[in-house]
Amino acid sequence: MTTRVRCSRRPRIGVALATLVVLTAACASFDPDARARFATPRRGMVVCEHPLATEVGVAILEQGGNAADAAVATALALAVVLPRAGNLGGGGFAVWVAHDASEAPRVLDFRETAPSALTSEHFLDANGQPDPERSLAHALACGVPGSPAGLFELHSELGSMRFEDVAQPAVDLARNGFPIDAELARSLAHDGVRAHLTREGAADQLFYPGGVALAEGDLLVQEALARTIERFARRGPSGFYQGEVANALLAAVRAGDGVLSAGDLRDYEPVWREPLRGWFRGLEIITVPPPSSGGLVLLQVLSMLDGFPLDQEIVAAAEDARRMGRDLDPREAGLSGRAVHWWIEAMRRAFADRAVHMGDPDSPNVDVPVDELLSPEWVSERRVSISEFAVPDVAPLDLPAFREDGETTHLSVLDTHGNAVSLTTTLNTSFGNGLLVPGAGFFLNNEIDDFALFPGVPNAYGLVGGDANALEPRKRPLSSMTPTIVREGDQVVRWVLGSPGGPRIITAVIQVFLRCEVYGQSLADAVAAPRLHQQWNPPATRFEAGWDPLLLDRLRGRRHEVVETEGTFASVQAIRVDVGGEPVGVSDPRASGAVGAEGRDLVPAAAFARKPR
Ligand code: GLY
Repeated sequence: MTTRVRCSRRPRIGVALATLVVLTAACASFDPDARARFATPRRGMVVCEHPLATEVGVAILEQGGNAADAAVATALALAVVLPRAGNLGGGGFAVWVAHDASEAPRVLDFRETAPSALTSEHFLDANGQPDPERSLAHALACGVPGSPAGLFELHSELGSMRFEDVAQPAVDLARNGFPIDAELARSLAHDGVRAHLTREGAADQLFYPGGVALAEGDLLVQEALARTIERFARRGPSGFYQGEVANALLAAVRAGDGVLSAGDLRDYEPVWREPLRGWFRGLEIITVPPPSSGGLVLLQVLSMLDGFPLDQEIVAAAEDARRMGRDLDPREAGLSGRAVHWWIEAMRRAFADRAVHMGDPDSPNVDVPVDELLSPEWVSERRVSISEFAVPDVAPLDLPAFREDGETTHLSVLDTHGNAVSLTTTLNTSFGNGLLVPGAGFFLNNEIDDFALFPGVPNAYGLVGGDANALEPRKRPLSSMTPTIVREGDQVVRWVLGSPGGPRIITAVIQVFLRCEVYGQSLADAVAAPRLHQQWNPPATRFEAGWDPLLLDRLRGRRHEVVETEGTFASVQAIRVDVGGEPVGVSDPRASGAVGAEGRDLVPAAAFARKPR
C-alpha cells in the first residue's frame, strides 16, 4: 500500500465568507453542548443500491462495527447481490472522515491500473480503426482489479472488527443465494445484456440456465463466488492476487486474448491520497482528487456558482411564477432559467478542463494542474466568461508552455460515533467486460475504456480526452467517481453522498447538493427532482423528463441546445445529518436500493419517488 499526497488541496475557496458565517452563527447561539449533540448522529445509517447489502451494513453497525467495517461489509455484499456494478473485479474510491476532527480526512484510491503490456494498438481493428468492442467487451478491456486490495486496506487501516466477520455476510449471501429482484431480472432479459453475458460459458450458465434468463424471485446461488470471498477473507489480498483465484483470473484473460499478467496482479497497490477540500457557503467539501475528475469538477462548478446571485434568482423565479398566474410548489426549488443557465455553463467549463488536463497524477507524463484549476483567478475568469447566453465552444485552461489530462455503484455510511465513509466502486459499464471468471465467480471490469485511447474518439460515456488520460502501462484511467463528505465548519459530518453514472455522477452530486443547500429542498425532493447533464462534449445539455417546459423554453431562448431524454441520470445514495444529529437518508428512486438505520425498518428507494403535484 502506498501513500501519495501530490494532489493535496487546502481549503481556499470562499474561506473568508465561510469563516464569517460560521463565527456569526456560533456567536449568535453559543451552546457548549451543541457540537457534541450535533456531532453524534443518533443512529448509524447505510444507504446503497440494494436492500440486502444495506441490511448487511446496518447489521455490522448494530454489532458494534464502525463506518469502515460497515462500508467494507456493504461493498462485499454488493459484489454478490448487485453483479452489474458491485464487484471484486473492479475498483473505486473511498473517502473517510473521522468523528475526531483532529484526525485528517483521507481518500483511498483503489482504481484499476492498466496491464503493463497493454498499448493503444490493442484497440485497433484489422483496418487500423478504433474498435470500441475491444475496450468494452473483451479481455483486453480489463484493468488490474483494485477492489480486493482496496477494501482490505480500508478495513485494516480504519475498521474495528475481524475482516472475516465483515466478509461473512457476503459469503452467506453468495452461498445460500438470494431472490433476484425486478431490476436484475429486467436487466438479464434485455437483449444487449444477454448478448454481453452469453459470449462465454460461466456467466451464461449462471444467469441463463438452460438458455432461459433468471426471473424475478428466482434464487441466485453463487458457490464459486462464495469460495473466492472466503479465501480472500482468510488470506487477505494474497488470497485474490496470488494462487487459485489469480490463476483462474489469468486463465480467463488468456482465453480471451487479454494481456493482464501475474506480475500485474502481484504488483497492484491501492493508494492513500489527500482529499481535495473546498468551501461552499460555510460547508467544507471533502472529495476525491485525481485520478478521479469528480472532485475537481465538483469544486470548480461550486466555486463558479458561489459567485452568482443564486438567491436573488430564487426570488425572481417566484415572482415570475406569480406573473404567470401560478404559485411555486413549496417542494420545488424555485429555479429560474437564468440560474439553470449558470449551472450548465459552469458544468461545461469544468468538463472542458477535465478533457484536457485531468489524468493519473502518478504517471511520469502527467501533471494535473490542481491548484491552477481551482485557483480563484481561473475560477473568476471562468465565471465572468459566462454571459447571458450559452457558449458551446469554451476552451480549456491554457497553461504556460512548460506545463505540458454505466455502471457503478455507491454506498454512504455513517456510524453513531460520527465517522463516515463515502465509497463508489465500479466495473465500468454494466457487468464490466462481461467475462465471469470460471471457477471464481466474479466479473472482470472494462475500465480501460475510461482512458482516452485515441484523441477525439469518445468513450462509452461520450467523453473525449487527450495526453493526460492516454493509455500507459500501470497508469490509472481517469474516473468521474465523486464520493464526497461535507462537514459543517470543519468539524462535524453534514453530508455523505455519491452516485453511479459515469460523468453524470458529478452533475448529479452537484444538483442534489445545490438543491438542498441553496434552494432549501428536502433531501428526498432534491434526489427525486429531474436532473440535467452537461459535459462540454457534446455541446447539448440533456434533461430527464419532468422539467418545467417553460424553463426549458427559456434555456432555448438563451441558445442552449436542449435534449430531452427518456432515460434517467445517476442514482444518488445520500445521508444528510439534520441539526440535532438525526441522519436523513435517501436512496435514489431511479434504482432499487434502500436506506437502513439502526433500530429502524429499511426504507426502499421507491418510497422516495416524486409524488404528483
Ligand atoms: N468507470 C466510470 C468512471 O470511473 O467514471
